[in-house]
Amino acid sequence: MSDATEPTLENLLHENRSFPPSAEFAAQANVDAGEYDRAAADRLGFWAEQARELLDWQTPFTTVLDDSAAPRYGWFPDGRLNAAHNAVDRHVAAGNGDRVAILWEGEDGESRRITYAELADDVARAANALTSLGVGTGDRVAIYLPMVPEAIVALLACARIGAPHSVVFGGFSADALHSRIIDAEAKAVITADGGYRRGSASPLKPAVDAALAKGGTAVEHVLVVQRTGGEVEWVEGRDVWWHDVVPQASTEHEPVWVDAEHPLFILYTSGTTGKPKGIFHTTGGYLTQTAYTHRAVFDLKPETDVYWCTADIGWITGHSYVVYGPLVNGATQVVYEGTPDTPHKGRWWEIVQKYGVTILYTAPTAIRTCMKWGEDIPAKFDLSSLRVLGSVGEPINPEAWMWYRRVIGGDTAPIVDTWWQTETGAIMISPLPGVTAAKPGSAQVPLPGIVAKVLDDAGQPVGPGQGGYLALTEPWPSMLRGIWGDEKRFAQTYWSRFPGTYFAGDGAKYDEDGDVWLLGRVDDVMNVSGHRLSTTEIESALVSHPWVAEAAVVGASDETTGQAVVAFVILRGGDEVTDLPEDGEAVVQTLRGHVGQAIGPIAKPRSILVVNELPKTRSGKIMRRLLRDVAENREVGDVTTLADSGVMSLIQQGLKKD
Ligand code: WT7
Repeated sequence: MSDATEPTLENLLHENRSFPPSAEFAAQANVDAGEYDRAAADRLGFWAEQARELLDWQTPFTTVLDDSAAPRYGWFPDGRLNAAHNAVDRHVAAGNGDRVAILWEGEDGESRRITYAELADDVARAANALTSLGVGTGDRVAIYLPMVPEAIVALLACARIGAPHSVVFGGFSADALHSRIIDAEAKAVITADGGYRRGSASPLKPAVDAALAKGGTAVEHVLVVQRTGGEVEWVEGRDVWWHDVVPQASTEHEPVWVDAEHPLFILYTSGTTGKPKGIFHTTGGYLTQTAYTHRAVFDLKPETDVYWCTADIGWITGHSYVVYGPLVNGATQVVYEGTPDTPHKGRWWEIVQKYGVTILYTAPTAIRTCMKWGEDIPAKFDLSSLRVLGSVGEPINPEAWMWYRRVIGGDTAPIVDTWWQTETGAIMISPLPGVTAAKPGSAQVPLPGIVAKVLDDAGQPVGPGQGGYLALTEPWPSMLRGIWGDEKRFAQTYWSRFPGTYFAGDGAKYDEDGDVWLLGRVDDVMNVSGHRLSTTEIESALVSHPWVAEAAVVGASDETTGQAVVAFVILRGGDEVTDLPEDGEAVVQTLRGHVGQAIGPIAKPRSILVVNELPKTRSGKIMRRLLRDVAENREVGDVTTLADSGVMSLIQQGLKKD
């Protein structure tokens, strides 16, 4: 088990506070305690009922679960529907066209209010524009956009024509974008000149140009949203301004009805090897579970709530809880372009006050950052509209949980700590706000219709008070359907550790009440600010630099970001390298920049330590556990399996010299 788990284990041993919902909250909640039993009594029937109630089907399904090709499960396979129709048009048809769908707030203070009727027109126009650019059903479209309304329109336009989108987070580099465009064989890219971050315009299009200049892609067109008005280079015939083709397009558009199992999107995430995995999700099951969980976990009342999820659409949280879940449910939501401290550290709370946000969904790292800034900042704003608070991305430490509840939630708003993954598509383990007595730091219970267990090494469920590996022992509607183009890796990564059962890669423990506590990853995946990074991917980036002979990367615990990337590198010696700077700091800065270029700024190591040796077992495996001890300033643990037991003292001596 990973030793990154200690702080949480510590919590578990000392945490016995519990916060039941108020009687008023429980009485008005969308979901009551009986839901668990109803779902358990007939799990497939329960999901079929959600699919029928929450979605519009052009062709109703008759089969709920197809397990004939497991682990490639299929949900509602003979049904047909369209995701954009469900997210937008349906609400207009039901007479809710005037309801605001998006309250957009630009970082620069610009704001836009978009109703469902307007969104329907925008999506239809963009769908027509994509079609006129030669994008057809089944073609993949890469999306590399800031948090502007056009981003949501772009995803939905792809969905409307049945073209799976592949969103690449705007913080990824041209190299990372290139490999994702290649892997998905994307036919078009949708981007912007740039976006606003930390008070200035930050360009995006140059990364697309650089990615495509590397060659080998199938991209025919680049559709460019103008956001900042900055200078852009232009490739005639390939590049097209959004404002030249979308506003002019017709608002008449017949959605492409697709099978429930038609791929809706691909989203790349880091795994334990160097190559990111293209996780792909399909339509019917994904929409069913994102809509259900959004309604149940956040207690959404579409007529009165103002919902705000602070995630970027570049991550799964943005897909499931900015785009699909909320819109399918007809929610009114805030979408914010920028950073929480621009132009001042109270920006988020100012937005909550301005729009009367009632439901806020964010990440522990953001909460800890706000804690650091001080509670006098949120205290300047009226946050009394908030009635449900959500957390996602990593275990939330009880201190941050308590602060979130007290300072942001006025000591009354229930907190839902939601565990899930890019692969699970939607929330899997979480309290229900009107039912569960919440415990600070625990995701607690699998949702109705979900079966999750903590297993020991032999795959046997453990009992109360015991720990092991988190596994999902029954298929669920929004489960990933595969890794794009790599069926073998799909089977191997998720279904081979415990045959027939989904292995999540997380350590977990039951407390004496049987509630689940997540303990962090058990593989070589790091979690930095709620984002997944692969140690191997960063190591590969480092050794691709001519100065580096060998590299080892660990996730060291960090007070704000959860974990931080710390790299140990061995430099090449001798005549091979002639341009190595004398100045150690220059070496480190160059290597950090190199990682930023290969992957993106989020992957840049917090620190890089130059060493002469790395601790390895006799079979040559790097002992990251020992390096983590060093990175976290702990006494180095058991070194008996080291091939050369002197290595660790050499590394430590080297560090002391610095
Ligand atoms: C990994 C998935 C799910 C959207 C954001 C991250 C960790 C996520 C929690 C939570 C403890 C959590 C797990 C998981 N994680 N939420 N509430 N408590 N750990 O998605 O990038 O696919 O990462 O994030 O380790 O495996 P992702």
